[in-house]
Amino acid sequence: MQVITQVKELRETMQALRCAGKSIGFVPTMGALHEGHLQLLRASVKDNDITVCSIFVNPTQFNNADDYKLYPRTLDADIELLETTGCDFIFSPSPEDIYPQQTMLQFSFGKLEQVMEGEHRPGHFNGVATIVGKLFNMVQPHKAYFGQKDLQQVAVVRQLILGVGFNIELVCYPTVRETDGLAMSSRNTRLNTDQRETAVSLHQALEQARKQLGQQSIESIKASVTDYLQHKPEVELEYFEIADPLTLQPLSTLTGVQEVALCIAAHVGPVRLIDNLVVNLSEV
Ligand code: PAF
Repeated sequence: MQVITQVKELRETMQALRCAGKSIGFVPTMGALHEGHLQLLRASVKDNDITVCSIFVNPTQFNNADDYKLYPRTLDADIELLETTGCDFIFSPSPEDIYPQQTMLQFSFGKLEQVMEGEHRPGHFNGVATIVGKLFNMVQPHKAYFGQKDLQQVAVVRQLILGVGFNIELVCYPTVRETDGLAMSSRNTRLNTDQRETAVSLHQALEQARKQLGQQSIESIKASVTDYLQHKPEVELEYFEIADPLTLQPLSTLTGVQEVALCIAAHVGPVRLIDNLVVNLSEV
């Protein structure tokens, strides 16, 4: 496995591999890797001749300076983990190399970025689209791998690929969970023992909502999720939505609907967590 830190070297290496007819799989990350990332990497290693993992904590997607500053950075441990996956290249650039000048790019994803993460984290998806677009352009992979935990990000990247015309297949993998059900996230490492225990209530709230889908209205499911989390210490619900899994637009009725995404964001102590479940209504 080779670590590349310079954009120029990455471009030249990828170009040579493409010319040699190699298929390239790409897993973009911000590091602090966990089993969720490793599953994406193993999938890429299985599907492609070459796998590239980027590790870059992207400043332009953070709408909160503390969140950027406190985001876990564990490069040495990440490299050790990546060695176990069969990954071929780690791309770990500096912010100056990625952003030689302040970016002026403005993406608009319409209604998709006006709800949930887009609504609560202004500018977040512009930063995500900017970095993912830059990385796609540098790596030029055949396939790119993302986790379902960031469902709205997946929808934004899908629109980015279609809108710009990147010749890249988007592969989305199910969320990987801890044994108690908490969605794996790099941010979980910032929870203290008590907060870690309470954090599972987000998943429990989603499971409770899933069970209510066949029996209750959207309004009453939302009310019971809010009520359930109100009684959990240190949990502050930001939103719970029942949305279309592709457009992420909130639904007002379940009549005639086949599949829904149950999406949640909450602060547990100082840490903001998100999670979701995609549910086929014929199975509830
Ligand atoms: O999901 C993430 O870790 C980031 O948003 C991504 C896709 C690596 C872009 O910085």
